Amino acid sequence: MKLAVLPGDGIGKEIVAQAVKVLEVLKREGAAIEMEYGNIGGAGYDAEGDPLPDTTLKLSKQADAVLLGAVGGPQYDKLDRPLRPERGLLRIRKELNLFANLRPALLYPELAGASSLKPEVVSGLDIMIVRELTGDVYFGQPRGIEIRNGERVGFNTMIYSESEVRRVAHVAFGIAMKRGKKLCSVEKANVLECSELWRDVVAEVAKDYLEVELSSLYVDNAAMQLVKNPKQFDVIVTGNIFGDILSDQASMLSGSIGMLPSASLDANNKGMYEPIHGSAPDIAGKDIANPLATILSVAMMYRYTFADMATADRIENAVKKVIARGFRTGDIWTEGTTRVSCSGMGDEVVAAL
Ligand code: IPM
Ligand code: MG
Repeated sequence: MKLAVLPGDGIGKEIVAQAVKVLEVLKREGAAIEMEYGNIGGAGYDAEGDPLPDTTLKLSKQADAVLLGAVGGPQYDKLDRPLRPERGLLRIRKELNLFANLRPALLYPELAGASSLKPEVVSGLDIMIVRELTGDVYFGQPRGIEIRNGERVGFNTMIYSESEVRRVAHVAFGIAMKRGKKLCSVEKANVLECSELWRDVVAEVAKDYLEVELSSLYVDNAAMQLVKNPKQFDVIVTGNIFGDILSDQASMLSGSIGMLPSASLDANNKGMYEPIHGSAPDIAGKDIANPLATILSVAMMYRYTFADMATADRIENAVKKVIARGFRTGDIWTEGTTRVSCSGMGDEVVAAL
């Protein structure tokens, strides 16, 4: 199993180092894992003048899976747009054709108090958001800022082809089949043609999955329902921009953005795995970040790319055990629990493994 390891910026290095500790345990037990490091984001710009250096792209294309930390930092905000860290991330998604982004929002019972919503609204929460990741207004052409009638206008293009919708819909239905068999498609078909096509194509794909109960919601209503009664959802499938927004919202239902992993998959289950949180420059280098989302991303890697459910379960159970034993990084610490550092948390997971 060839792994490209791209720590990136900010807390990226610290959290990835903890996930690597877990991989090292599996390696010592005999797993054939090869890890090679590359630069991405600001780190790519600093070292090689490009947020996605050719060396990193090549390494990632040759790998079976990519483990990513986080990208971005205030020191890069003034760079030309194509040189900014986020562009490196968008380009690697596109270059590797990672069109299906899986973002679970799961509440650990012991952390119910961390949510800003009432415990009874979120207890037992277990949602999977499937976000299309390589299309939509993120990549649509034309785009730009130009002068029209003597003033500046900014414009982007929201666009989906039916094949793009179909392939992500298949992924979402497939996941729903393995879970609660409920899928909610989210769009804005009352206003946008792009969404109208999305809704129609998802309904066509539904004919292949008669066991799955399909519903659809406009994105504004979906945002409201997510806060009002989040447990009505099992799997949500949506486009790139709506998925970007709704997945941040869903992550906060669990109160602990530091706990949530993600997978971005291509058509052959090759994937890039990363925590959904950012590079948190304000706490970088202090050894206080929560590494659990990155460690749980390794579990997703085992589940989706390596199809090794036993190891995926084992890593997830180790994390559950560590939480149950009361160990907390600062972001999820509450009275009566034991505060640990980022590396301390990594050590606890290794011990629980
Ligand atoms: C995400 C992030 C990215 C996105 C940014 C950093 C480009 O917000 O992964 O959700 O908008 O996709
Ligand atoms: Mg986002």
